[in-house]
Amino acid sequence: MVIADHPITAKAHTNIALVKYWGKLDNELIIPQNDSLSITLDEFYTQTSVEFLPDLAADEVVFDGEKLSADSSVKVRTFLNLVRNLANIDDRAKVVTQNFVPTAAGLASSASGFAALAGAASKAAGLNLNRRDLSRLARRGSGSATRSIFGGFVAWQQGHNDATSFAYPIDEQPTWDIAVVALVLTAKQKKVSSRVGMRLAVETSPFYSAWVAASRADFETVKTAIQNQDFDLLGHTSEQNAMRMHALTLSSDPTFTYFNADSIKAMNMVKDLRLQGIPCYFTMDAGPNVKIICQGADAKRIAAHFQTVFGKDQVLITRPGAGISISD
Ligand code: DP6
Repeated sequence: MVIADHPITAKAHTNIALVKYWGKLDNELIIPQNDSLSITLDEFYTQTSVEFLPDLAADEVVFDGEKLSADSSVKVRTFLNLVRNLANIDDRAKVVTQNFVPTAAGLASSASGFAALAGAASKAAGLNLNRRDLSRLARRGSGSATRSIFGGFVAWQQGHNDATSFAYPIDEQPTWDIAVVALVLTAKQKKVSSRVGMRLAVETSPFYSAWVAASRADFETVKTAIQNQDFDLLGHTSEQNAMRMHALTLSSDPTFTYFNADSIKAMNMVKDLRLQGIPCYFTMDAGPNVKIICQGADAKRIAAHFQTVFGKDQVLITRPGAGISISD
């Protein structure tokens, strides 16, 4: 194993889950309670370069041009320790990371961030991981990052330990025309992080076991919908699954919600469009922004419709994106 003598750069796209991950069986190893399934998105990505340097006294993290304090870089440094352990090295690292999101709008996520960090740091440390092992490593940073190693439609197999919990591609380059219209309803930092929110659900929601059972069924249904290119089945099941996840926030103790007034307005608009005969469905993650799953041919007119209400720059059309790429 040889440490790279130059910075290694990785680019990973973020993803939106159609069947969500919301709860861990193992908080330390990040083993989820159910299989999940996502689309990797082409418009939003993180680019990260890492170099391990013998003369560096401490890890240095530059995030979107700003040097992070020791406090705010703790997750990155913990992750680097994991990589150092795997590679059996001691050198500290210089990490430079940049999020590419069309507006500075709260759509950047830990998914693309930890996937890119896993790719760049492992190779810089001299580890030559295949994509399955990269997804296992990315998982240790953030669960959703597991899926961002692959492009197109991706599943994360729950597994039962570090070796068996990884992502695999279902359809890396979909031949049907799917798009996701992202509505940026607020750029504000979420009040309850996914990590805290899902832990509350596992520990306090009386509906938690029903969620796991429903998600397992949703996973099989969405997988079948992808195989058959059945858009309505995919959209309908994804929308149901998202709302079932959000029902867990409302039934946790203390109760909370990621919805704001605009999220509810946008979800109702999606349902109205459907009544008018335009096939589209919504999903939401751990924040108020709504994502609309639609067919590529309808994406422009759906986006235009939402732009009249939420503003031109708040509505972005994305399509299935590529898996991770790592420089030599
Ligand atoms: C709602 O991956 O951010 O986006 O593993 O604790 O870092 P940690 O959580 P994270 O949670 C993602 C939750 C979700 C659903 C999903 O992406 O599957």
